[in-house]
Amino acid sequence: MTLNRRQFVAGTSALFAVPAIGRAATPPKTIEARAELARIAPDSYPETEIWGYDGGVPGPEIRARQGETVRRTLLNSLPQPTAIHWHGLRVPNNMDGVPGLTQEAVQKGDKFQYDLPLKDAGTFWYHSHNQSTEQVARGLYGAFIVDETNPPDTDHDITVLLDDWRLGQDAQIVDDFGSMHDWTHAGRMGNYVHAHVSPMTEVLTNQRLRLRLVNVATDRIMYVSVRGANGKLIAYDGMPVTQPEDFETLVFGPAQRVDLVVDVTADVGEAVQIILHERVEAFVIAELPVSRRGTTVARGAIEALPPNPVSVLKDVSDALTVPLVMEGGAMGGLRQGSYKGQIMSSDELVREGQIWTFNGIAGLPENPLASVSRGDVVRIQIKNDTVFPHAMHLHGTHFQEVLADGSLGPLRDTILVDRVETREIAFVADNPGDWLFHCHMLSHQAAGMKTWLSVVL
Ligand code: C2O
Ligand code: CU
Repeated sequence: MTLNRRQFVAGTSALFAVPAIGRAATPPKTIEARAELARIAPDSYPETEIWGYDGGVPGPEIRARQGETVRRTLLNSLPQPTAIHWHGLRVPNNMDGVPGLTQEAVQKGDKFQYDLPLKDAGTFWYHSHNQSTEQVARGLYGAFIVDETNPPDTDHDITVLLDDWRLGQDAQIVDDFGSMHDWTHAGRMGNYVHAHVSPMTEVLTNQRLRLRLVNVATDRIMYVSVRGANGKLIAYDGMPVTQPEDFETLVFGPAQRVDLVVDVTADVGEAVQIILHERVEAFVIAELPVSRRGTTVARGAIEALPPNPVSVLKDVSDALTVPLVMEGGAMGGLRQGSYKGQIMSSDELVREGQIWTFNGIAGLPENPLASVSRGDVVRIQIKNDTVFPHAMHLHGTHFQEVLADGSLGPLRDTILVDRVETREIAFVADNPGDWLFHCHMLSHQAAGMKTWLSVVL
């Protein structure tokens, strides 16, 4: 009998049933950000010089159980200052990894210790949050998986990181991170979309897979489908849906995730394929070959995961409502904006590398978008007055979309707001601190699209 992950996890839970919070701290592991050679392009090309955590792309997958505390000491061996953000994890504010808001950037040769209590189970990821247009494009990211106490019964648990590289003919990363053309348009698009699949054993017919898809690209929106397997979507951005959903083509703004549970329908010799859809073409970006016949035991229905312990939103009708108007970019007609406390013409802004504004302000404003008390219900009306989509990410807490009929969408930490569209999100501000709220198209963030919220005790 082969031991599958479910059995392994069930086996360990018997031994370590004690919740880990409050247990004696184990010394933190070091995670080193450094340059290294890695195989990104096909074998006929040279290796690519990347920046990676522990020298790898992606960085090591961090995996722990809900309720545990993960500790990592970041050692910066890069030629630039850096910091790590734990995307989607509801961590204490001083662990959030945002230079200029929650910590000082970690200088070359220096260290910073992150202590991350894991409140939620789900699919998260970690990435650099300093000069991120460059640092994430060079490879500074990895998956962060938090296991449920009782994970669903599957034969494989597979992480698929969707990335987008801009490589030259020599397979080296093109060094044009500040390109104004990219920043004023849809961001820095690569020319080589790549899916990194976590190591796994062989896939057999009829097996049940959990697929965790993460868009780690700096700017590209990905349209993805799965062929050769059938099932349900069970989580968005790490947070379980109440009712597993059918899915076809999934849309991933930068930083967005989904968890799927699917049963293999492909036959021996075929493969489960991850397909990337472009305007008129489709590409296979990952394949899980089906090597042998598996048993045909009938699988049970795909069940919802237990909810994470988030504060439940009920009535949003008398929530504090905060407008956020996005302007700027190419064809946006921005006349002026405020930057570092000064009103500037659009030409002056461009000279500062600032192209986009939130409520007329480019870059991190001195005052928060809103200052609220812990426990307040906050509603943000996001009006996209630009001709580009934006993937808005809130740090520190997940939110729900307030839909047109007043009902609430699934919990998410990143929402894709299409061109000239208005969307509303709401959440209980239960995590005290200063939290960044920004476009996760990292070029747009660098070029102005960021603000913050203050949650006071
Ligand atoms: Cu994924 Cu502000 O970050
Ligand atoms: Cu954007």
